[in-house]
Amino acid sequence: MERLQKVMAHCGVASRRKAEELILKGRVKVDGKVIRELGYLVNSKNIVEVDGIVLQREDHVYYLLNKPRGVITSTFDDKKRKTVVDLIDTNKRIYPVGRLDYDTTGALILTNDGEFANYLMHPKNNIMKCYVVKVEGILKGPQIHALQKGVMIDGKKTNDAKVKLRKVDKQNNNCIVEITIHEGRNHQIKKMIEQVGFKVLKLKREKIAFLDVKDLKSGEYRVLTPKEVARLYGINERHKKSTD
Ligand code: URA
Repeated sequence: MERLQKVMAHCGVASRRKAEELILKGRVKVDGKVIRELGYLVNSKNIVEVDGIVLQREDHVYYLLNKPRGVITSTFDDKKRKTVVDLIDTNKRIYPVGRLDYDTTGALILTNDGEFANYLMHPKNNIMKCYVVKVEGILKGPQIHALQKGVMIDGKKTNDAKVKLRKVDKQNNNCIVEITIHEGRNHQIKKMIEQVGFKVLKLKREKIAFLDVKDLKSGEYRVLTPKEVARLYGINERHKKSTD
């Protein structure tokens, strides 16, 4: 489900603010009924009309990008830096699902399907994200244990995480650690590592659920298959069954 004004903006009818004005003026109908409520939720099957004209909803598209470093995860940048959307050749109004920092690389999904994006981002849906982190210094048992059990970031404890030490480089005083989480809080991995007294040198998202970017070079992308999209939607159902 998506907010009515957002759907209107995606269809290119108006900016989000203008769309809100149209709703408040009673010029928007959903399935034949005037809706004056901002934030009214619609799904892809609802028919939205503005001044009697039915909105043509765009076909949905889904991409998996191997995000390079030095690109911002946004649709637009005031400072005119390159965005992840600039890397994808489409005339559809796509946007990134969640965020990777400017200096983070790896798996990122982009779509114009708001319902799907909300689904993937909602913590209750347990979408797994696997990060590979190069850390300055060498993590020891107690720090790994703390990361697994949850650390306080921004006043709230992180959920259980899977943490695996992949490589230790004593000579250069760093290590590679794999961290798998189901949340997506702001700068979560960097903050978790800081919380145990260390610093992230490099960060890559290796996987989102079952999707990895092994076959994509940095900056390359591919279209997700309908099967993959359906499988992502199915993940929460399977998780619920396996924990019943
Ligand atoms: N955690 C971070 O700290 N940064 C990212 O880009 C992704 C997860």
